[in-house]
Amino acid sequence: MIVGSIKEDLASEKRVSITPETAKNLIGLGLKVYIEKDYANHLGIDDNNYKDVGVEIKSSAKEVSKSSDLITKVNCPSENEINIFEENTILVGMMNPSKNKNQIHKIINKKIKIFSLELLPRITRAQSMDVLSSQSNLAGYRAVIDCVAEFEKSIPMMMTAAGTVPAAKVLVIGAGVAGLQAIATAKRLGAIVSATDVRVASKEQVESLGGKFLMVEQSEDMETKGGYAKEASEDYKKKQAEMMKEALKKNDIVICTALIPGKPAPRILTDELVKLMKPGSIVYDLAAEQGGNSAFSEPGKINTIDGIKIIGVKSLMNSLPLTASSLYAKNLFSFIRNLYSREKKIFNINFEDEIIEKTLIKEI
Ligand code: NAI
Repeated sequence: MIVGSIKEDLASEKRVSITPETAKNLIGLGLKVYIEKDYANHLGIDDNNYKDVGVEIKSSAKEVSKSSDLITKVNCPSENEINIFEENTILVGMMNPSKNKNQIHKIINKKIKIFSLELLPRITRAQSMDVLSSQSNLAGYRAVIDCVAEFEKSIPMMMTAAGTVPAAKVLVIGAGVAGLQAIATAKRLGAIVSATDVRVASKEQVESLGGKFLMVEQSEDMETKGGYAKEASEDYKKKQAEMMKEALKKNDIVICTALIPGKPAPRILTDELVKLMKPGSIVYDLAAEQGGNSAFSEPGKINTIDGIKIIGVKSLMNSLPLTASSLYAKNLFSFIRNLYSREKKIFNINFEDEIIEKTLIKEI
């Protein structure tokens, strides 16, 4: 069986889905690997790095697609790419089904089996394949680094002969994978960190990282069986806004990470709340592409309102494409290893397997 990979659209995506390391692992399973010429040149990874581990380099995407049984991608393929795929191929990537309905419809009509890794169940067996976690973790780290670069003061407390500089205060909204990594990174830099979430379980996780948990007084836990957040009630939103008022006046940097699966991001910071912050403060909205947790946030833009910078994040993984590719490719390798039967030497689409059943897009 052959696993192929073609280049992404470099204008919007710098990650790759197969690295020399994971190509070697795929070949170790008994698979062949084909990639398109100059596949990862932009990351400083030469075709020879792939050849050295046994990968075959093909002159075009069409040449790769022609003979591949399974094609890996980072993002959902474009209409032109779909045209070159052969029927009955398997396609694996982060397909973002709700945003790419037309392409997915076309792919299914072409009898291509399409797997979307964002749909993986959050179960122990799927942890090594969990693309949302691997990429969110990096996003949380990078959020802090970007804020530090934009913030015009230092972060840690410094006691110097010239006087004492107070530590910066960082508030993280949403303590999931990205939020927890943002807390850990900000703590490492010496910030005073607090965080809030609608899920009560996150309190202990925030505190274990040295953050202070800001609790909205509310009896109901808004965690679903799957571990995700439910949409907050109007009453909860009012109480959360009240709690935010005091927190926003005190904090220098606010990192927003709150998401609700399948829904637009919850709008937590209204115009009035943002304007309570001090001039020179920063709101960093990781949820900007999903609609934004904050007023004034626009993907890919920094808007300054009353001296407060509101940073709307866009394609953040393009800021650290090597690490993001390395982790994404490892997630993908684990998924392919689960799909491939070494005894039968075929990709075994077993619907009894929750991982396969949940990630295969059947219709749109
Ligand atoms: P996410 O990216 O969907 O959302 C980020 C965070 O925002 C969540 O913690 C959510 O509770 C919070 N949030 C949503 N609405 C909010 C609001 N109005 N105000 C404040 N916070 C709000 O979440 P992520 O990072 O994907 O994690 C979701 C769950 O999955 C967590 O419980 C996490 O621990 C769990 N998980 C489990 C894994 C496993 O393999 N068992 C792997 C990774 C995550």
